[in-house]
Amino acid sequence: MRTVTKVEELRAACDGARRAGLSVGLVPTMGFLHEGHRSLMQAAGRADDFVVVTIFVNPLQFGPNEDLAAYPRDLDHDAEVAESEGVAVLFVPGVTEMYPDPPRTTVHVDGLTDGLCGAARPTHFDGVTTVVAKLFAIVGPSRAYFGRKDAQQLAVVTRMARDLNLPVEVVGCPLVREADGVAMSSRNAYLDAEDRTAARVLSRALGAAADAVEAGERDAATLRAGIRSAIGEVDRVGLEYVEVGDAVDLEPVGTITGPVLIALAAQVGKARLIDNVGVTFRPDGTAHVDRGIAASTIGTVSVPSGSLPDPLPSESETPCAAG
Ligand code: PAF
Repeated sequence: MRTVTKVEELRAACDGARRAGLSVGLVPTMGFLHEGHRSLMQAAGRADDFVVVTIFVNPLQFGPNEDLAAYPRDLDHDAEVAESEGVAVLFVPGVTEMYPDPPRTTVHVDGLTDGLCGAARPTHFDGVTTVVAKLFAIVGPSRAYFGRKDAQQLAVVTRMARDLNLPVEVVGCPLVREADGVAMSSRNAYLDAEDRTAARVLSRALGAAADAVEAGERDAATLRAGIRSAIGEVDRVGLEYVEVGDAVDLEPVGTITGPVLIALAAQVGKARLIDNVGVTFRPDGTAHVDRGIAASTIGTVSVPSGSLPDPLPSESETPCAAG
């Protein structure tokens, strides 16, 4: 694995890979890598020949009172994780490398960025789409991999790529949960032991909503009320929002008639945590709820850079689908 810090080095490495006939897969991250990130690298390693991981804590996507300075970092550990996953190039730019001048160009995806996390973080998604567009332009990936924990981010980036005809497939990969159900996040590092116990209520409440949907509940207000009430019982957890929204345009729905996302954000101690489950329907009309996958199912793989893992996984073993 090569670690590079300059845009031109990364661009040259990706150009070289494409000239050699390799497909380039991109996993953009902010570092402090965990099993969720590992699963993205594994998905990239299964589908692409040359995997690029980027680590950049992007100041543009943090609001003035958010955790930019405190955001956890551990580059040595991250490099070990990326190397063990067969990553070809790790890109770790500084802020002035990514933004040599204050950017006058911002990518804004209308509508999709207004609700859910966008309501409390009004500049966040512009920061995300701007940096992701830059990374797409530098790397030129065939596919880029994003976790479904950040479901709104996935929807927004997918829409950006579609609206701008960007030649990249945005691939959504499963949300990964720890053994106690808590969704994996670099921000879990902010939780002390009591916060951590309290945080379990988020996945528990979503799990109960998922059970209700599978049992036939279709009323969004009933589902939201159940989640509110479960979370309201835990003192240390402050619910920011819970919403049942259309899976593609994220617009709130009253009655579930098609694919939806049941999403929430909450403050637990110093951490703002998000979590969700996705509802789709089988041909027979019964609901299927995507609750994510267990971290214990994400093994450590070693894929030689620039080659495909052998044998290729079967369809059922490939958890990611186009976002
Ligand atoms: O999901 C993240 O880690 C970030 O929002 C991303 C996509 C790397 C952009 O900075």
